[in-house]
Amino acid sequence: MKIKGKTKLIGIFGDPVAQTLSPAMQNAAFESLGMDFVYVPFHVRPAELKAAVEAIRALGMPGVNITIPHKEKVIELLDGLDEDARAVGAVNTVVNREGKLTGYNTDGEGFLRSLAEDTGFNPQGKKIIILGAGGAARGILASVLNKKNKKNKKNKKPARVIVANRTFERAEGLVKEFNEKFKDLQVEAVELDEEALGPLLKEADLLVNATSIGMEGGQGGQGGHGPLSFIIEKLPGSAVVSDIVYKPIVTELIREAEQKGLTTHRGLGMLVGQGALSFELWTGQKAPVHVMRQAAFEALELQ
Ligand code: ATR
Repeated sequence: MKIKGKTKLIGIFGDPVAQTLSPAMQNAAFESLGMDFVYVPFHVRPAELKAAVEAIRALGMPGVNITIPHKEKVIELLDGLDEDARAVGAVNTVVNREGKLTGYNTDGEGFLRSLAEDTGFNPQGKKIIILGAGGAARGILASVLNKKNKKNKKNKKPARVIVANRTFERAEGLVKEFNEKFKDLQVEAVELDEEALGPLLKEADLLVNATSIGMEGGQGGQGGHGPLSFIIEKLPGSAVVSDIVYKPIVTELIREAEQKGLTTHRGLGMLVGQGALSFELWTGQKAPVHVMRQAAFEALELQ
């Protein structure tokens, strides 16, 4: 990599940030297109977030990614917000246009785009079950409800959307908030257990795990997926199964789904999808998705 006088600096602000796969993915994209950009991780602690955001302007950076724990707090430091970021209440991408900073959230749209690329799934008229009510579930829910058909501006609405969460009140709160925002489809909240979910799973077209269950060393236990062990057997053979967890690359849920012959969408897809949309926002160029996926995959294997 050659740093020159005109090289543009993009970065990611997070705390912690050491595990991020974004530098590998974005730098591979810049390199493959011969673009004079470099992407660097910055360990920004909460007390320094304001100064770090001011540095985007001061250093003339085209933009940054924002990750945990700054995705919500950064909003008040920006000049404007895109519609998805407003609906989700969180920003993962900042674009600097001549000193004016706009916040975007590419997580949900990145999810839908990679889901379409990997499986051909189109949410219109479909029955969708989302497990989880945290930040990841919010992004996915917003994108599914907000999906616009660019040609005729009509909503490509799903037929039914259900949110299931261990802490039921959290699912209820999320559903209430989104039902006030997106009035044309009423999302339903249910408990994340076999009794409540079983009958609904039988009719599902898409099942998304947006919890951290199954994550290596995560809350769900060492790659295990105990609370989700009843899910796959209940789904019809036509269902698509998506997991936001990308470490391990093949989660227990995805492994079971593949064994049953279901179509699957792995967590790495969503990661690459959000990164590709961020790349396009900063550069105005189409992202080399396959290059980014390969780089993220290789970086993950080295961790
Ligand atoms: P994120 O922003 O990544 O979505 P989060 O806000 O911490 O992270 O949300 C994690 C999600 O995983 C939540 O829906 C959480 O359920 P609760 O709201 O009940 O906490 C879910 N989750 C994590 N571990 C779980 C487990 N062992 N069983 C069931 N749900 C779990």
